[in-house]
Amino acid sequence: MGPAAPQRLSRLVEVQSEHADRISTGIPELDRVLGGGLVPASLVLVGGEPGVGKSTVLLMALREIGTTRRALLVTGEESVAQVKLRADRLGGAGEVLILAETDLDAVCATLERERPDVCVIDSVQTLASADVGSAPGSVAQVREAAARLLRVAKAAGVATFLVGHVTKDGTVAGPRVLEHLVDCVLQFEGDRYHAHRILRATKNRFGSTNELGVFEMTGAGLVGVPDPSSLFGRSEPGEVGAAVACTLEGTRPLLLEIQALVAPTDLAMPRRVATGVDPRRLAMIVAVLARHAGLPLGGADVFVNVAGGVRIDEPGADLGVGLAIASAARGVPVREELAAFGEIGLTGRLRPATQAERRLDECRKLGRPAVLAPAGTEGARLECDTLRTAVTAALGEKPV
Ligand SMILES: Nc1ncnc2c1ncn2[C@@H]1O[C@H](COP(=O)(O)OP(=O)(O)OP(=O)(O)O)[C@@H](O)[C@H]1O
Ligand SMILES: [Mg+2]
Repeated sequence: MGPAAPQRLSRLVEVQSEHADRISTGIPELDRVLGGGLVPASLVLVGGEPGVGKSTVLLMALREIGTTRRALLVTGEESVAQVKLRADRLGGAGEVLILAETDLDAVCATLERERPDVCVIDSVQTLASADVGSAPGSVAQVREAAARLLRVAKAAGVATFLVGHVTKDGTVAGPRVLEHLVDCVLQFEGDRYHAHRILRATKNRFGSTNELGVFEMTGAGLVGVPDPSSLFGRSEPGEVGAAVACTLEGTRPLLLEIQALVAPTDLAMPRRVATGVDPRRLAMIVAVLARHAGLPLGGADVFVNVAGGVRIDEPGADLGVGLAIASAARGVPVREELAAFGEIGLTGRLRPATQAERRLDECRKLGRPAVLAPAGTEGARLECDTLRTAVTAALGEKPV
């Protein structure tokens, strides 16, 4: 082989952009997470634990898409009859085309010939090519399958959903490489023991990440929850150890009830157990409460739980977590109708949270006019500059 021939360059301004309309999946929550619908010829990886509802939601989407376009389901995991059973339960199969196949070469050849507008591969781990020596599901096979499907998706204009299994630690099984390859990565959170499922974009080349969709699993499939704040942001008036945080998920404000338990312990290393909150963040908040807000937490176990199985990874939720713990530690309920947001700094000072206006709107909309926020937040009922004053204000105690 001789040296490679140099390639011609083109000017970016002269490139014809194909202004393709996004394809609506008929599921508003899914469209939102995709950034306003599915982009034609894109490759979307959908991850989530077994039984979380990946096959369900994608079948529902295919059925909707099938009313106006060609929609194909490639099933390697379930038989055609099994899929039919699910479709019947979900209210019909519409015009969805189906192929039961695990041979990668056959799947790619079929896609190239049939050129459906949208295709779901359930799951990428079941596909295998004879050219790759290793077993189906191995890293090499999964990588090969994704790379081949990417080429087909772009060349034949097939928008493709890849279903991917998730390992114990929550990453899509097999290679992380897959996540680099695809255009979008959607993650289903929540587990099969809860009725609520959260769909989140962790990567999106065509839209904002951290958009969030909330679903409820019912007998008729996954039903979108358009107003999750009213579901997760409810708290019992007068309950000790609960506070409502106003967090921001992407562009979407979300009220979440946060519960805390502070229990005396004899352990030399008291426990700090968090569900839905980063454990390191929790340890930090507990330390700041102890050091700067005068709460004796050194001899106590602290447990924190976020409503609805939601996971928060936004510092604006710090204050809500801090207030729930303070309430539990003091045995005093947080003032009624109060919601809080703000980042807790290591010095005990509260830092402003982003997009305060949006959060305030959400609180107002849901009947929580009393908002506690860092000093300088225009429109908040209570402005506090430190965690200590925030705790005092939220618990309605006299300043010390
Ligand atoms: N009749 C029913 N009523 C309510 N929920 C049901 C019913 N049948 C199944 N489900 C729910 O559907 C879930 C299975 O969904 P689905 O098969 O879409 O999951 P999945 O993410 O594709 O799982 P896997 O990774 O194993 O393929 C079950 O966990 C169950 O909660
Ligand atoms: Mg499935």
